[in-house]
Amino acid sequence: MSTAGIDTAWDNPLRDPRDRRLPRIAGPSGLVIFGVTGDLSRKKLMPAVYDLANRGLLPPGFSLVGFARRDWEDQDFAQVVHDAVREHARTPFREEVWQQLAEGMRFIPGDFDDDSAFEQLRDAVEELDHSRGTGGNFAFYLSVPPKFFPKVVEQLKKHGLANAPDGSWRRAVIEKPFGHDLSSAQELNAIVHDVFEPDQVFRIDHYLGKETVQNILALRFANQMFEPIWNRSYVDHIQITMAEDIGIGGRAGYYDGIGSARDVIQNHLLQLMALTAMEEPASFDAASLLAEKLKVFKAVKLPEDLGRHTVRAQYAGAWQGGEKVRGYLEEDGIDPSSTTDTYAAVRLNVDNRRWAGVPFYLRTGKRLGRRVTEIAVVFQRAPHSPFDSTATEELGANAIVIRVQPDEGVTVRFGSKVPGTSMEIRDVTMDFAYGESFTESSPEAYERLILDVLLGDANLFPRHQEVEESWRILDPIEEYWARHGRPAQYASGSWGPEEADEMLAQDGRSWRRP
Ligand code: BG6
Repeated sequence: MSTAGIDTAWDNPLRDPRDRRLPRIAGPSGLVIFGVTGDLSRKKLMPAVYDLANRGLLPPGFSLVGFARRDWEDQDFAQVVHDAVREHARTPFREEVWQQLAEGMRFIPGDFDDDSAFEQLRDAVEELDHSRGTGGNFAFYLSVPPKFFPKVVEQLKKHGLANAPDGSWRRAVIEKPFGHDLSSAQELNAIVHDVFEPDQVFRIDHYLGKETVQNILALRFANQMFEPIWNRSYVDHIQITMAEDIGIGGRAGYYDGIGSARDVIQNHLLQLMALTAMEEPASFDAASLLAEKLKVFKAVKLPEDLGRHTVRAQYAGAWQGGEKVRGYLEEDGIDPSSTTDTYAAVRLNVDNRRWAGVPFYLRTGKRLGRRVTEIAVVFQRAPHSPFDSTATEELGANAIVIRVQPDEGVTVRFGSKVPGTSMEIRDVTMDFAYGESFTESSPEAYERLILDVLLGDANLFPRHQEVEESWRILDPIEEYWARHGRPAQYASGSWGPEEADEMLAQDGRSWRRP
């Protein structure tokens, strides 16, 4: 096995020489991707593997195996990875890194129920152990529609791939959606756990791989100034927004029948909520994090009147920049009578001592005004003002806004005297922006998550209990919607339906316009 031309993390030109921390580098290992021809694989997984190698965070003999129904040789697969890397990788292309990686690429053509393909996969894994020193350590990434999960895990078991030889490991990486509701999620978990032990299973919620999401816990628990006011005594309400300006693109097959709440609230937004609401974990390890997040999920109570406190809607066509943008029901592949939501807003309560009476408003939508994800902790008004009411007419509520993306950072909003001879107080903001404060670049979420899988670090992966709890929260809302008519409408490019504004107005509040 040659290691020539491979950088270690220490002599890697992409590494800041002032950074004295020990890098987290994966040990001998390989990754098998099922569903290698899909979008996720091309746009995220392959580039992430290359970027990790380029940053010196993969072992020299790292190997990548693709499995799909294509008539490809190893070099055809390598070419597909090459093109994906050239198009989507974040770090510069370096021929020597690419060559080293490409030598460890193998492709297995076949169907998921084709036994001989899985035999070939087993042979390839053994061959890589010998030729590249992967040490029997392999992660199997199921980047395939959930209907194929049972078959693939069953085949891995049948062909002896799920069990690690002594001293090595095998792990399964599963992409969402983890089921469609609580009972399908339980079924899926049972199937997966029949083959893999719970700590061998890594469920991907790519939001947890984002720097700004990990920073929620740093902000709260590495500082003294936020936590004392992070509770019902000071907080009025919390708004969690994930807005996208894109429509469903070519994803009709996946999206129709699923909708925005299942696609995004069940996983990303409930995870953001858990990190915002949870108590300090005993330590920063997977078991302690799980324990605290679970307490939040179990404390979530739905409003009794779901009709008043939830909204779902579909984008309607609109003219944008002189062009007609199609409405959801006119998109290719969408049933014109579909009731699938492309926008959802829900009010949740976390019934515990810290949060009793503080509503958490979660909203998400496609084709909204702008792509933005943020968590806004909105505070109560000062209990008393010594200024006369004209002074504070334009003063809003104080807020701490965690800007998850795209303009990553944290904003604190508070009132300040307007310069001049009279007392007038208006909102101002104090901003922390990643780009200004740090020279280090953020790894893409998938880079971080793939590295963690290879290191066996489960902190950033939702466990099956969390997945099931999130469905427990969402199921009654979906059932209510299914029984109650059609979704509302909103114009593409707007900030959602009027019904969502009314949902907050009845509580005496309004949505932020980020
Ligand atoms: C995915 C959803 O999980 O997240 C997509 O399935 C959505 O519908 C995407 O577009 C958004 O991810 P990001 O990282 O671009 O905010």
